[in-house]
Amino acid sequence: MCGIVGYNGYRPSVEVLIQGLHRLEYRGYDSAGITIHQDGELRTIKKCGKIRDLEKTLPTDMAGSMGMGHTRWATHGVPNDINAHPHLDSSGKIALVHNGIIENHHALRQLLEGEGHTLGSETDTEVLAEYIGYIYGRNSVSFPDAVRMALTKVVGAYGIVAMCEDEPELLVAARLGSPLVLGVGEQEMFVASDATPIVEYTRNVVYLSDGEMAMVNRISYEVLSITHNIPVHKSEQQVDLTLEQIEKGGYPHFMLKEIMEQETTIPDAMRGRMDFPTGKVNLGGIRDWQNRLLDSDWIYITACGTSWHAALIGGFLIEALVGIPTKVEYASEFRYRKLIINPKTTVMAISQSGETADTLAAVHKANEAGTLTMGIVNAVGSSVARETNCGVFIHAGPEIGVASTKAFTSQLTVLMLVSLLLAQQAGESSQEVASVLKELAVIEDKVKQVLAQSDAILDLAREYQDSNNFLYLGRGFQFPIALEGALKLKEISYIHAEGYPAAEMKHGPIALIDENMPVVVMALKDRTYEKVLSNIQEIKARKGRVIAVANDVEPELEKLTDHIIQVPTTHRLLLPLLTVIPLQLLAYHIAVLRDCHVDQPRNLAKSVTVE
Ligand code: G6P
Repeated sequence: MCGIVGYNGYRPSVEVLIQGLHRLEYRGYDSAGITIHQDGELRTIKKCGKIRDLEKTLPTDMAGSMGMGHTRWATHGVPNDINAHPHLDSSGKIALVHNGIIENHHALRQLLEGEGHTLGSETDTEVLAEYIGYIYGRNSVSFPDAVRMALTKVVGAYGIVAMCEDEPELLVAARLGSPLVLGVGEQEMFVASDATPIVEYTRNVVYLSDGEMAMVNRISYEVLSITHNIPVHKSEQQVDLTLEQIEKGGYPHFMLKEIMEQETTIPDAMRGRMDFPTGKVNLGGIRDWQNRLLDSDWIYITACGTSWHAALIGGFLIEALVGIPTKVEYASEFRYRKLIINPKTTVMAISQSGETADTLAAVHKANEAGTLTMGIVNAVGSSVARETNCGVFIHAGPEIGVASTKAFTSQLTVLMLVSLLLAQQAGESSQEVASVLKELAVIEDKVKQVLAQSDAILDLAREYQDSNNFLYLGRGFQFPIALEGALKLKEISYIHAEGYPAAEMKHGPIALIDENMPVVVMALKDRTYEKVLSNIQEIKARKGRVIAVANDVEPELEKLTDHIIQVPTTHRLLLPLLTVIPLQLLAYHIAVLRDCHVDQPRNLAKSVTVE
């Protein structure tokens, strides 16, 4: 959601910024723009649409060695050229790019309009730009002081970069709730909302924390506390990201690359943590908290989107293997509900990005209640990772496709390790734990077998690409997979799809079934298999078309269904790792056949940093 890139150095900044904006495209956006400091003036070009639309409108003589760019995902005001960033104040001296939401923008707007200022856009960002300009123009303060003073009056969340016409060599960046990272190069500096636009130039980075601002010139930077106006010492870190990881590597889309990567990301999530010969699990990030975790009366798992589906499975795993009551809540509900959280509960937050606003707010709420918080996060250094007491990284590598795929299976793998660890710690040496361990040791090969079916699933996709609706049904551990399959399809192909517990079909969705309704049924051999077969009969009786995902293809199933996608057999607690993959591939192939923007679906953002 919204991306920021700033550059101050010796290279032609227009090229660095445009390339940086392309790297940020994956976050989701609807307009883009850049400001360059050129010949003592600020030159701004912004455009609704894609970055290539912006590139077409850039004047050929636009040049300079300092500038900033932004991709906007509309919150306040429709996507159009005027609402796009950067925003200038009315004097034209101050330019601002902003991620997040200024919640008191109405009050600031009234104050400014009362002083005779006119604002041209509908955005909260322009209000802040105008307010910085107002302070800068009225008081004899420096530009960084004007930014700092303005920010002390802001309620809301922001990651900003600001430029001033009078300061040809200075970028000012600040953060409260929306991530910002500085890139420290040789005679050049970068600022960005994540490290992807920076890694091709330098690996030395500094993560700003909430409440900090940075004055960035081309050879150095200084970080201050916004409220206390005192310097803050920051340590530089080496970013663990390669250019190869953020490029498509020969695949037509990031999403397909990431689906295929699951044959390595699932084992990577276990690497160094799982000793198969002894069956011992070792999770350094929660080692000091294991006893406390086991002592929990109650565990809440909270998340959004695909991570919430992983949470549902995590809840089932903890209950099945450890026996601690577990409740799964959408983070957006968790943050406003009156929940029973106390020092004997544990709150786990699952997030690929570690920056989802609702998930972070849920963590804050749990921290305030004094309960143990644990993160299951992909992005190292992200807010959820930093603000939880303990946690486990999923180590899936950067996920660029907006629709989450490999992060989901890595989350499931880590949730399995956490459950096994707690079960072992609790002295559970059940048959179940032993057989899960045996199957986990050979899961990699089975993942490969499922991925090898991509072409067969493409053939299936051809048959169903014109459907307007899809239903996904599953029971037990396969119910969250049905939800995830439906989510994948609607996210990237814009086909309406619903996931349901199979037995609930009779309480509503059955009314929708006719010959035009494809139903994906998770028909795995477990204790509900016979019931699922009955559901399939009910669908066929109404002429629905059934695509079954099955691990044991019996003649009866073959007779009843239109298509079967077969996955290898494994322990029932591990089956979700295999059964979700054909659903990811089905959604992917249908979306490509429908000519959809698979990696950047309309209206969606990779990391939802606003409420
Ligand atoms: C957005 C993304 C989803 C993701 C969800 C939660 O909606 O488009 O793919 O599952 O946010 O994101 P998180 O980073 O917290 O896992």
